[in-house]
Amino acid sequence: MTTIIGISGSLRAASFNSALLRAAAAEMPSGATLEIGSIKGIPLYDGDVEAAQGLPPAVVALKELIVAADGVLLVTPEYNNSIPGVFKNAIDWLSRPSADIPRVFGRRPFAVIGASPGGFGTLLSQTAWLPVLKTLGTEAWFGGRLQVSRAGDVFDASGTLTDARIREQLRGFLAGFCAFVGARRRSYP
Ligand SMILES: Cc1cc2nc3c(=O)[nH]c(=O)nc-3n(C[C@H](O)[C@H](O)[C@H](O)COP(=O)(O)O)c2cc1C
Repeated sequence: MTTIIGISGSLRAASFNSALLRAAAAEMPSGATLEIGSIKGIPLYDGDVEAAQGLPPAVVALKELIVAADGVLLVTPEYNNSIPGVFKNAIDWLSRPSADIPRVFGRRPFAVIGASPGGFGTLLSQTAWLPVLKTLGTEAWFGGRLQVSRAGDVFDASGTLTDARIREQLRGFLAGFCAFVGARRRSYP
């Protein structure tokens, strides 16, 4: 069984990106499951806090979910044409201490999708993740793209994905990513 952990970069209860993540959990291919992680409760990164108290419990919990998973799906909003601060902040905490980066991120398959009410569907925030994923040594998957634009027309008021075309795209994306993750898993030493 291939296990993916998915993380939404929004704290909003009515988040389009969290809705997209829930839809992804429902559209996983057979032989794979998607577990939903959360950045809720992760404080702003403060090196003094880290030095005095170590990692906050919410960071430790998310880290261990990532370590237990075969791959990671980031579902990113876009703020000011880039990564929202809360999401980058969470990944920054997860990269501490730096000696733990290989265990958490190193050669781990990552993929990025996202949803926005605008016309470009998080194109620029997805692109902004690339140097971060490279720096952390992940095995980023580029075999598919999913940029959900006009998100207000794609989800209903309760956050259910109602657009058949996007659902098909999501299915194809997940099938491709899971095939990549499964092949990578078999090649681990
Ligand atoms: C500070 C801020 C900046 C934003 N900048 C962008 C942007 O550059 N591009 C975009 O498509 N949407 C932008 N938006 C709109 C977000 O895409 C929208 O709020 C979206 O619903 C956020 O994702 P969520 O629904 O998962 O919370 C911005 C929103 C905020 C609050």
